[in-house]
Amino acid sequence: MRELRALEPDFWRAPSAHNTQPWTLTYGDDEVAVGWDPDRALPISDPTGRDLRLSLGAFVECCLIVCADAGLGVAFRPDPGPRRVGFLHAAARPYETPFTTADVRARGANRGEYHPGRLPEEVAAGLTGLRRVACRDLADLLHAADLHQFGDREVTRELRAWLRLTRRHRRYLLDGLSDRALSLTRLEALGLRASLALYPALRRLGLPRVLAGASRGLLDYDGDVLVLVGPPEEEMEAGRALMRHWLTLSGLGYTTHPLSQIIDCERTRRELADRLGVDDPCSLLHVARVGRPKAPAAPSARLRD
Ligand SMILES: Cc1cc2nc3c(=O)[nH]c(=O)nc-3n(C[C@H](O)[C@H](O)[C@H](O)COP(=O)(O)O)c2cc1C
Repeated sequence: MRELRALEPDFWRAPSAHNTQPWTLTYGDDEVAVGWDPDRALPISDPTGRDLRLSLGAFVECCLIVCADAGLGVAFRPDPGPRRVGFLHAAARPYETPFTTADVRARGANRGEYHPGRLPEEVAAGLTGLRRVACRDLADLLHAADLHQFGDREVTRELRAWLRLTRRHRRYLLDGLSDRALSLTRLEALGLRASLALYPALRRLGLPRVLAGASRGLLDYDGDVLVLVGPPEEEMEAGRALMRHWLTLSGLGYTTHPLSQIIDCERTRRELADRLGVDDPCSLLHVARVGRPKAPAAPSARLRD
């Protein structure tokens, strides 16, 4: 158990929506419960807990990889309970994985510009459960979803609570989305801070349109968007698979930029399901653009750093 505690900073490199790092580890005598902290969930923007369960799955996968790299025989037993998804416990052998702690440390979202170009067919074919769509084919849905997101007072308020747009923010080095992780210049960060502070007054005067306009050209290039499709009741497992896919891509020099707003908005989620020929819109679990970034991204903060 002591050895596991020492590895926590690497477990914590797992990705989570808004970088809330919602997971908790509760140490028992011979196993560790993996759970979540409700204060770190996103009840407004993630009311069904889809992103929470994906993030917890990614966290479990990270824990197993990091333990395996340290030579520790540790396995995961799903056992959903109140605010709990299961237990890490001792196993005869380390978890079998091609990934290492160095891979976990090297992965990160990148929201900057990507070089044009689609994923090679052989790479895309290895990403089980992920469907790929040309960026330009989803540009209209992204804009509609951004308008929906920024038009919603409560969603915007919740997002704002996790933004760290100035280095003077007291949680800048702990959690949330920093100006640097969002690839914003100082001026852009200042503009976003000011407009969000004035949001209640400016909402009716068109602020949502201005905020959504900032990402207008984001998908207007020759690139790929990946959509994770799977049974909604297996979101935790899907989070583990997503983490493995992100690590595979990262090892090949690709990064991802999640665009969850497209499936957070009911209308755009339904439209995307239609375009993909997927019957149940709730089986769209995650959306992210993928590509070779033009510049490295700043690493995001962690509570355990
Ligand atoms: C389930 C899930 C949903 C996410 N949705 C978004 C999103 O909609 N937009 C975005 O920019 N990042 C999104 N992210 C990326 C997180 O913000 C990111 O993982 C977190 O800030 C930690 O940064 P890192 O991935 O660079 O370590 C998502 C991540 C996860 C796991």
